[in-house]
This record gives sequence, C-alpha cells and structure tokens, in this order.
Amino acid sequence: MSVQNLLAGKKIVVTGSASGIGKETARLLTAQGATVLGVDLNKSFDHVEEFYRADLSDGPTIEALVDVLPSGIDGIANVAGLPPTAPAEKVLAVNLVGLKHFTELMIDKLNDGASIVNLASLAGFGWQQSVEAIKASENLGYAGIKDFIAKWSVGNEGGRSYFFSKEALVVWTMQNRWTWRDRGIRMNAVSPGPVDTPILQDFLETLGARAEEDARVMDRPGTPEDIAPVVAFLLSDMTSWLRGTNIHTDGGMASNILCDMHGFS
Ligand SMILES: NC(=O)c1ccc[n+]([C@@H]2O[C@H](COP(=O)([O-])OP(=O)(O)OC[C@H]3O[C@@H](n4cnc5c(N)ncnc54)[C@H](O)[C@@H]3O)[C@@H](O)[C@H]2O)c1
Repeated sequence: MSVQNLLAGKKIVVTGSASGIGKETARLLTAQGATVLGVDLNKSFDHVEEFYRADLSDGPTIEALVDVLPSGIDGIANVAGLPPTAPAEKVLAVNLVGLKHFTELMIDKLNDGASIVNLASLAGFGWQQSVEAIKASENLGYAGIKDFIAKWSVGNEGGRSYFFSKEALVVWTMQNRWTWRDRGIRMNAVSPGPVDTPILQDFLETLGARAEEDARVMDRPGTPEDIAPVVAFLLSDMTSWLRGTNIHTDGGMASNILCDMHGFS
C-alpha cells in the first residue's frame, strides 16, 4: 500500500526526532512531503530539514527554543519522552510539564488548521483511577514537581511516574478537544503498546511480571514503523474532525484489557 504526499507543503515540528518513534516519524513525514523541524536533547540531522538541540525538561530552554522556531507551523508531534527508569522528577518534567509548556507557547506560531499529536502510551489507559491526582496536576509547574510526586505517590516505584505522566497526557489531550476550535487547531494522542526502541528494555526492567504477561499475550512488540503512520495520519488534513481523541496503536492490547475486565472472550 502506498500513500503519496499526504503532508505536502506542511511544516511540522517533531520532538524526540533523534531516536525510535520520533526518528521514524521524521523520516515518514519527510517522505510524505513535509518539511520537518526536529528537536531533541541528542543531536541528529537524520530526516530533518532543520535540527534544534534543546532540553525539553527545562522551562527557560523551552522558551528560548520557541523564540527561535519559525512561525507558520502546520503541526507538532510531541514524541520526546523518558522511560520509567529515569528519575521521577525528570519523567514528569519532560513527559508532562515540559510537553504542555512547549505546546502552549507554540500556539501563536501555528497556522490555522494545524494539528498537534501527543505520544501518550498504553500506560495511560487507566487514567480513570487517577482523576484526583490528574486534576491536582493541571497547573503543575517545574518548581512543584518534587512535592507533587511525594503528595500523590507518583515516584518511580512500579513505573508510577511514567504511568501518571501518560494518564495526565491522555486527559490533557481530551481537555483540549476544542481549546483552539475557532482556529481549526486540533489536538489528539496516539497510545502505543510496547514498541521495540532503545527504551523497551527500561519498561521490561520496571514492569517485571506485568511486562511478562504482556509478552505472553502479544504476538510481537510494535515497531516505530507501526506507530509513525498513525502520527502522520493525525497530522494530515484527513483528520480535521478528530479532536481530543486517543488512538490505541498497540496490536490489540487495549481491547484485550477491556475484554478481560468486562468478561468478554
Ligand atoms: N517504546 C515504547 O515501548 C513506547 C510505548 C509507548 C509510548 N512510548 C512513547 O513514545 C515516545 C518515544 O519513545 P521511544 O520509544 O521512541 O524512545 P527513544 O528513547 O528511542 O526516543 C525518545 C527521544 O526523546 C528524547 N528526549 C528524552 N528526553 C529529552 C529531553 N529532556 N529533551 C529533549 N529530548 C529528549 C531522547 O533523546 C530520544 O531521542 C515517548 O514519549 C514514549 O513515552 C514508547
């Protein structure tokens, strides 16, 4: 199957463009006619027209990055993220606080009709169990992260920092279903299951028995090539009526959890 020039003429920012899903997303978007502006902590000029090195865990760095990025942006793929083996404060700073800060500052640089895609995770599936903590995190800034982790028990144990960052991201995506509707700007999320990238090992280490159970029921882990086309689809003009949605891209894992939970075969 081949689709051509799905994103012709679009200027799209991809964070996390140096590795894994972000790198494959940058490759695919470029192949589909987009001009890709890559952002990452690690320098990589692969598949990008321009590369911006930046630490997305740091507020002032994000503000400086937004200053130098051009306007006239048609899409943002927020892919950069840290696994649960990283310190909990960093996980929340990159995966949640930094992502929100960057996106909110970028709105003025977006063209009308732009699309924002957040890389969430199957780890965000159980957000309904964390509603109070998610509400408490709505205005979380960098300075409050340490206290927030202690108060809401979202440290590294059992990968909780990571799970919480993705739960809150799924909810934030829903909350922004209509925030910029008058400008036709939409926000959606993609939630992969386990994907074979450099951080897969970190998940396996953190999740232990849970990861073993996933491996037992799954036919195979995902690949970046399974995820990038879904991001590209959401960035394209084919999806202008998808708003605040979260596309599970996980080989059937989310459906499997729901069927198990409700006693369906
Ligand atoms: N691999 C999986 O199993 C999986 C599953 C579900 C969701 N995800 C999500 O997909 C996204 C991409 O993950 P991946 O598997 O491609 O991992 P990866 O480690 O291959 O890529 C992540 C990229 O983010 C960058 N990054 C990390 N911290 C940064 C910072 N402070 N500033 C700027 N860049 C930073 C890294 O340098 C790296 O290039 C993440 O948000 C991750 O949570 C991954």
